[in-house]
Amino acid sequence: MSDQTRFILTEADLPKYWYNINADSPVAPTPVLHPGTMEPVTPEFLSVLFPMELILQEISTERYIQIPDEVREIYKLYRPTPLMRARRLEKALGTPAHIYYKNESVSPAGSHKPNTAIAQAFYNKAGGTKALTTETGAGQWGSALALACSFFDLALEVYMVRVSYDQKPYRRILMESFGAQVHASPTDRTNFGRSVLAEDPESPGSLGIAISEAVEAAATSGGAKKYSLGSVLNHVLLHQTVIGEEALKQMDMAGEYPDVVIGCVGGGSNFSGIAYPFLRGNLKDGRRTRLLAVEPTAAPSLTKGVYAFDYGDTARMAPIVKMHTLGHDFVPPRIHAGGLRYHGMAPSLCALYEAGHIEAVAVNQKATFEAAIAFARAEGIVPAPESAHAIRAAIDEALEAKARGEKRVVLFNLSGHGNFDMSAYEAYLNGRLEDYEYPADAVKEAMAGLPQVSIAA
Ligand SMILES: Cc1ncc(COP(=O)(O)O)c(C=O)c1O
Repeated sequence: MSDQTRFILTEADLPKYWYNINADSPVAPTPVLHPGTMEPVTPEFLSVLFPMELILQEISTERYIQIPDEVREIYKLYRPTPLMRARRLEKALGTPAHIYYKNESVSPAGSHKPNTAIAQAFYNKAGGTKALTTETGAGQWGSALALACSFFDLALEVYMVRVSYDQKPYRRILMESFGAQVHASPTDRTNFGRSVLAEDPESPGSLGIAISEAVEAAATSGGAKKYSLGSVLNHVLLHQTVIGEEALKQMDMAGEYPDVVIGCVGGGSNFSGIAYPFLRGNLKDGRRTRLLAVEPTAAPSLTKGVYAFDYGDTARMAPIVKMHTLGHDFVPPRIHAGGLRYHGMAPSLCALYEAGHIEAVAVNQKATFEAAIAFARAEGIVPAPESAHAIRAAIDEALEAKARGEKRVVLFNLSGHGNFDMSAYEAYLNGRLEDYEYPADAVKEAMAGLPQVSIAA
């Protein structure tokens, strides 16, 4: 084994296919239900929101789906992304573990999100869409879609969660620089936004509310606008598998194979993107890599949420899916600075978690930022607060290996950089962050609002 630090693929190594876990998953996909009738959705219903090609990907069971040349050409602006051996972090921790990270922060928007934004913009353009609507929390997804829409000459309307809109003006300006229109959600532009503001004019907003607004704006546009989602759905997870496909080749270059693959989870897309190609190794090649999803204790959908059918949004307009949920009315506490605030989780990931193929852990925010700072000081990249959850777990794995005196190969996904997240870092560095655990009672209470679904799944 050499003392190499960066493992770099050439443009020719850029994957030609996305990997669809639904071809190999040992758990059957659960049905997606219409929010009104609670019967399985039809392609006609979905086609109000999405172009047909993405609907077909959503339900596909084909193992490999070809990446269109136009998408690969744009991927070449930043892909293949580097795989790094975090040698300086290993040294700082004094661990015998080998820590690798896939650096998705090198994309022009600063995160993994363009992997699907570019694909979604491409399929929308090809399907005749002129304008898209979407929501964004911290602004990473909105920036990625704004970038992709500018490449494909599509208009974009972004509903940005109010608390982030106020805390992160530079993300908004980035989106506007790419030509998007950005609104602080809840807005007075939609029926649902107006109803939330009537009840609470100071509402900080939530991802669930912003999704409702973006869905309403598309659904009531008379076909002028379609809607785009940055996580949770199968086609989004599919597009993110370029991360894991590249990482497999790069781990091979490093002459190692990970014992554990780690990613943070909001809706589940960057974790699935790095983990599913390794899960294929477990399912088909007898590998035994542990796959660890990391979430905040303030929004612990996998570890504390209930596995049930729930609406994808607060206004109950988006389809109902089976997932680990904190309830569609979930509003994260204002004190939470680390992102990953969605009330649910990708259905395929939840089903695999239930069946024991994936592990999950929740981490508190002070420990998360402590890990972020340790990583920044060793490796020179200030991570996105979201990615810092994965770093916390990677450091914990490395420290456990040290305590046990064993070698362990740890791979995590650095899903983004935190250069626009300085208000969160400032709060941490000035001692203003508090740990917060979402109460189990609140989850129990929220379950009264779940849809009464009769379908067996
Ligand atoms: C940098 C970064 N990492 C991770 C996430 C979590 O999303 P997902 O679970 O879909 O990867 C987000 C969400 O906005 C993000 O911006």
